Amino acid sequence: MLDIHSHILPGLDDGASGIDESLEMLRSAHRAGVCAIVATPHSGSHRRSLRTPTIASALAQLVQAAAGDPEASAVGLYVGSEIMLDPGVRAALDAGDVPTLGGNTRFALVELPMLEVPHYAEDVLFELAAAGYVPVLAHPERNHELSQRFDIMLQMIRRGTLMQVEAGSIVGGYGSVAQECALEMLDRRMCHFIASDAHRPGAYDSLVPQALEAVTARMGEEVTTALFRDNPAAALAGEKPAFPNPISDDEWRGRDRDPRSIFEWLKGRRR
Ligand SMILES: [Fe+2]
Repeated sequence: MLDIHSHILPGLDDGASGIDESLEMLRSAHRAGVCAIVATPHSGSHRRSLRTPTIASALAQLVQAAAGDPEASAVGLYVGSEIMLDPGVRAALDAGDVPTLGGNTRFALVELPMLEVPHYAEDVLFELAAAGYVPVLAHPERNHELSQRFDIMLQMIRRGTLMQVEAGSIVGGYGSVAQECALEMLDRRMCHFIASDAHRPGAYDSLVPQALEAVTARMGEEVTTALFRDNPAAALAGEKPAFPNPISDDEWRGRDRDPRSIFEWLKGRRR
């Protein structure tokens, strides 16, 4: 796995509380088969939000602290941030105030408030895409409004936003609404990345391995590898993989409920 969403940096946000916990998260990640992590503390366009130099400096400290530990140092670390979406995000990205995934790509991990979709959200996502960024929306299944509005998610995807579903949601860690939404997103090809959003070592000890198993059983090896490893690796290299079209609301309503037969049906349509 290459994890594009993790609050592993010590003492910056509600993630790792200190360097010891960051190192424990790295060791847990290594044991879970994670080869690299993009450190994504909460940031935003507000002037008091975390800024790129602070994040980069914390990352350098963690790399240094991990150097003597064979397990912790086996996991690659990259700079990033989880940016609260608002109308100021484009300017903050353009100025380099908040880092994209890996720092040198156009992939920007953005998040929404937990309850509703703000009135400006779709416009700001489109503005980012039009400016050459690739917005990656963190855990849409955990946004209460979005989890019920696949039509809005489909519109976002059509206009250039990619979706990052959380490992914990897939295995029910955030309740049945988020889980059902996450699973439907998988079935409808609306999920482009799966990431941990780890705040503690437990995410790597239990949620990531459980999600890996669940997605493999549901979607098969090929899709699982794409979502956990190949798509994240492409993003970190600054390349946008070719994603299959999502299944529209009309197509979904007329489907056979078995997701495997949906893919067979889609394959047939493309021939
Ligand atoms: Fe997060």
